Amino acid sequence: MAEPYYVDEVAGRDDDSAVGTPTAPYQTLLFAMKMHPPESSSYLVKKASAADEAAEYKNASDTALKKAKKIYEGWKRKQDKSSDLEIKAREEEMRRLAILEEAKKVVLDEDSSLPAAKRIRLDETEGVTLGTADKPGTRVKVLGRVHRSRTQKEVMFITLKDGYGQMQVVFGGQLIKTYAAMTLTLETSIEIKGQLRELPPKASAPLNRELHADYFRIIGAAAGDKEAITNKVQADGDNQTLLDQRHLVLRGDNASNVMKVRAAVLRAFRQAYLETRCLEVAPPSMVQTQVEGGATLFGFKYYDQEAYLTQSSQLYLETCLPSMGDVFCICPSFRAERSLTRRHLAEYMHIEAELDFITFDDLLSHLEHVICRVVDLILADPVTAAYVKDLNSKFQPPSRPFKRMKYADAIEWLNEHKIDFDDDELPEDDPQRKRPHRFGDDIAEAAERKMTDILNVPIFLTHFPAEIKAFYMSRDPADRRVTESVDVLMPNVGEIVGGSMRISDYDELMAAYKRVEIDATPYYWYTDQRKYGTSPHGGYGLGLERFLAWLCDRHTVRDCVLYPRFVNRCTP
Ligand code: 4AD
Ligand code: MG
Repeated sequence: MAEPYYVDEVAGRDDDSAVGTPTAPYQTLLFAMKMHPPESSSYLVKKASAADEAAEYKNASDTALKKAKKIYEGWKRKQDKSSDLEIKAREEEMRRLAILEEAKKVVLDEDSSLPAAKRIRLDETEGVTLGTADKPGTRVKVLGRVHRSRTQKEVMFITLKDGYGQMQVVFGGQLIKTYAAMTLTLETSIEIKGQLRELPPKASAPLNRELHADYFRIIGAAAGDKEAITNKVQADGDNQTLLDQRHLVLRGDNASNVMKVRAAVLRAFRQAYLETRCLEVAPPSMVQTQVEGGATLFGFKYYDQEAYLTQSSQLYLETCLPSMGDVFCICPSFRAERSLTRRHLAEYMHIEAELDFITFDDLLSHLEHVICRVVDLILADPVTAAYVKDLNSKFQPPSRPFKRMKYADAIEWLNEHKIDFDDDELPEDDPQRKRPHRFGDDIAEAAERKMTDILNVPIFLTHFPAEIKAFYMSRDPADRRVTESVDVLMPNVGEIVGGSMRISDYDELMAAYKRVEIDATPYYWYTDQRKYGTSPHGGYGLGLERFLAWLCDRHTVRDCVLYPRFVNRCTP
């Protein structure tokens, strides 16, 4: 046997700095054994109990040796086992690589004896026939991205998407033996050719058909492993991450379907306005006048002047009436809202209309008509109706006439239902903070939604007190305390429309500017409408994202816009 190894229970160390010599001894017998197996080593130990410095190294006692050896053997068994597993994993990886290496040799050539493939989008059904076991179907070429995939013994099923529809694709034979198929990742873009066939009995797939592929070609492989889309975005993922990865979230069914409904809703509004002879105009986004109060203005430097991003195009729409008739616009509005609510965005799509020579009642009838017409058009289009059904299975078109409720009655209703006013000007723990509503209170978002959810029908909430509404609203001749104003409230969202009749009298408008301390000078062009042939007129603005939140049953307006903008979020 070689030299013994030194263990000093006081001065020794169980780490890399020890080598088991008298000048660099180990601290424990067990560690010495791990470094130098007991089968071929001997140890000298200086005990801790031999406190005096002159203590000598002695041969390790039998009991000490036995005890340390027992622990050492347990440790050794574990070591062996984990290295076994490591070896197995390594072998498995080698095997996998060998198979993949083999797969790289499989070259897929398009069979030139097959009929030429007809390029189709995934939702196309015209001009293609589905084959069966005995008769061939149309051979088609499709381009899209892998939305889902699952592998069975000898086949691989891929759900392909292209933005128009989805298609079930079946890979078998040589196709699944290729390297590309074996390493296929979700979102990979791909060209596939094959024959369209009827589905086997009891199977289900989009448009009741499947593509039996005979050829495919990867166009752009998508990242896999840690970077795979499924690792980046998960349905129940944390909100901030989902917002950061919004571009990937938009690849999902729900998010993209909401966007498709959004496009259809915009088409429907334009159709409804065309039918009611409203002309589309495009007012500027960069302005120097406010509409809905200074608190939510986004200001910016316009060359050397102060300017704002528009809060509403209403004032400009009013200037179009004399020569263009009734008008509408669909443009972004901007509001520097400070609060994080589920129905406020900093940039939203504002659908606004302005109607000439009308009464307040005409305004309400028009609103009711347009909203119902848009819903009818949406539901009449089978593709969009299917998206709506998928997103909001319980959706029922509103019945007419809409419930009409005056502000004063709403205040009473809230108090009867013990829904308190929450005065957020007062500190959180102030006993006066929560109290019954009084005439003149702004009905807060929470109270408004509670009421709408309980009533559970669209509501025209009308005749708000002048003090809580914008300066341009005309008063009700029958009750000068209130305005001819309307908010349309929808279940689950609350206010989706704000509208009113406008002050048409010159002096009254001048007094209104004064009341809210607006300098009338930059509004000269708005005021001029009252100088050059005034008229009773009114209009409204509808928030598209809120309309969608109602129609598609989304929890927040943030899900109803491509890339939401709100406090502290201007990316992506
Ligand atoms: O009630 P509001 O502020 O009314 C106006 O701007 C009028 N000048 C419109 C007009 O009469 N032409 O806004 C109208 C609608 C609201 O009912 C709401 O649907 C939407 O615009 N809206 C918002 N949507 C998302 N985020 C915000 N921050 C919004 N602010 C208003
Ligand atoms: Mg409003």
